[in-house]
Amino acid sequence: LAHVPTVYLFRLIGQSEWSEHFPDCGGTSQSPVDVITTQTKYEPSLIPVTPLGYSQHGNQPFTLSNNGHTVIVELPEWMGFRGLPWFFTAAQLHLHWGNGGPGNGGSEHTINGRSADAELHVVHYNSELYTNMSAAMTQKDGLAVFGILIETGDETNPAFNNILNHMSRVRYADQKAFIPAFDVQSLFPEDLGRYYRYNGSLTTPPCYQSVIWTVFHERVQISKAQVSQLMS
Ligand SMILES: *[C@@H]1O[C@H](CO)[C@@H](O)[C@H](O)[C@H]1NC(C)=O
Ligand SMILES: *[C@@H]1O[C@H](CO)[C@@H](O)[C@H](O)[C@H]1NC(C)=O
Repeated sequence: LAHVPTVYLFRLIGQSEWSEHFPDCGGTSQSPVDVITTQTKYEPSLIPVTPLGYSQHGNQPFTLSNNGHTVIVELPEWMGFRGLPWFFTAAQLHLHWGNGGPGNGGSEHTINGRSADAELHVVHYNSELYTNMSAAMTQKDGLAVFGILIETGDETNPAFNNILNHMSRVRYADQKAFIPAFDVQSLFPEDLGRYYRYNGSLTTPPCYQSVIWTVFHERVQISKAQVSQLMS
């Protein structure tokens, strides 16, 4: 997960050393996880997430940036969702991908040991308990992140072109570009009622154990050409 002030630090040290520098990275709730479906339990009290405002993109451009690790789209604060005991306000979304090409992994979460080609994270903070993202991210129940697994399919997914077509403008760390606002919900899978929920953490240092994860069962597909665009 990006959007943490120390994101550059972890690039200098190996993952096994993270916990020496960031005590939380040795915590018991470290993300990502391999979801072993036979070890999940149906929980009737969990309800589908209800997205609010993601389709109302308005006319102001979005900001796309490269933090040296991933590409980030900042999200307007009227976007958020219900489905947890608190309202969560959207902050940003970002992508994770590998370099091996289609079929060679790239997602952070895996299901039964199987990775997807890429993964979209939509990051929210608990705006009922905290005033902003930085205040929330160190606190229990502070953040809620959607994990959306992306795999290679036959067809172009036009929703993802809203990001992919502008990636060349932020090829280098610290670059920023304005991109036309778009319907963010069109990036999501259709079925928001089937997901894996667990209490976890930021996937990169400082690894705060503050994230309520929702990893959707349904994957979204982008074309092989789009996967290549992501990796180029
Ligand atoms: C976030 O909220 C905290 C606590 O209310 C405040 O001290 C801090 O300045 C805020 N940070 C930003 C970036 O707005
Ligand atoms: C997460 O932790 C809270 C307690 O803080 C607990 O009520 C909840 O059931 C946990 N969620 C999952 C999916 O384990």
